[in-house]
Amino acid sequence: MAISALKNSALEAIQKAQNLAELDVAYKAFLGKKGELTLILRSLANLSEAERKTQGKEANELRNFLVERFAQRKQEIQIGEIGKREATEHVDVTAPGKRLPKGHMHPLTLVQTKAEEIFQAMGFTVAQGPEIETEWYNFDALNIPANHPARDMWDTFWLKPKNAGYLLRTHTSPVQIRYMESHNPPLRIIVPGRIFRYEATDASHEFNFYQLEGLMVGKEVSVANFKAIIEEFYHQFFGKPVAIRLRPSYFPFTEPSFEVDMRWGKGKWLEMMGAGIVHPNVFRAVGYIPAEWRGFAFGMGLDRLAMMKYQIPDIRLLYSGDLRFLQQF
Ligand code: FA5
Repeated sequence: MAISALKNSALEAIQKAQNLAELDVAYKAFLGKKGELTLILRSLANLSEAERKTQGKEANELRNFLVERFAQRKQEIQIGEIGKREATEHVDVTAPGKRLPKGHMHPLTLVQTKAEEIFQAMGFTVAQGPEIETEWYNFDALNIPANHPARDMWDTFWLKPKNAGYLLRTHTSPVQIRYMESHNPPLRIIVPGRIFRYEATDASHEFNFYQLEGLMVGKEVSVANFKAIIEEFYHQFFGKPVAIRLRPSYFPFTEPSFEVDMRWGKGKWLEMMGAGIVHPNVFRAVGYIPAEWRGFAFGMGLDRLAMMKYQIPDIRLLYSGDLRFLQQF
């Protein structure tokens, strides 16, 4: 092909190339190892000296010219692509952000918070106590002396050495003592908190669970007051009236003592809490004069409350950390 014809077809190919890949194909067709111009340059060796001079000059000039045109076209294409991206991929600064996964409350926290709200509206204050307790607060002051058989009611995690008298509290009742020691009656408190028992687990028993203690002390506090407050609590908590029954029971720190069951389904009752009228020895332990004061106390299982509210079949789910379970709340 004549050099001038080659120039025209090369320029045409350069102009036609719309992207870098097409331009590369055109480059190879003319200037690659087997490109048309490369072949001409190689064949110069076969020509007479005179021909080589004229044609060689022409071919080399064309080569330099085309190399430059390819470079120019490459730049044009690149600028064009950036422009295209700017036109289509603009950043919309007013667009709403990406939603980040949000955490949420654990069902036990939901239940505890709701219970606190209801009792606070009835004049109860929220009190707290330590999870590591002394034998005195967990047992003795609650009218459970050493060697009293009632200690067997609570399988205890003792801290070493055992004779030091430290343990993981087996119920929230020690906070009754701590609070009364530092406050004068009349009073109304609730104590939500974590407790520990050296027990085998099953669908309704954990070795680590939550209770909500209640204590009301005044001049004329009665079982009737207790029953009314608990019924009101359940009514508000479940959003409808709930049937409860008081069953006689035994706790060393209350007299009389009872268990409160809640009805769930036909003829089925679930034990929700222990309760009773505060024992005179408990008042003595904190320096109150028993003849002057009356009180009721109760300790309800918060886990059982959560299980009833959300129809959770196994208490162990609450502590499983399983997101498939937790994300339902
Ligand atoms: C007590 O712990 C008493 N301190 C309650 C009390 C307080 C009585 C004040 C009188 C006055 P009890 O061991 O029965 O009692 O536990 C109370 C409630 O905790 C039970 O009714 C039940 O709802 C819950 N509970 C008991 N054991 C477990 C367990 N292993 N797992 C989950 N919940 C439990």
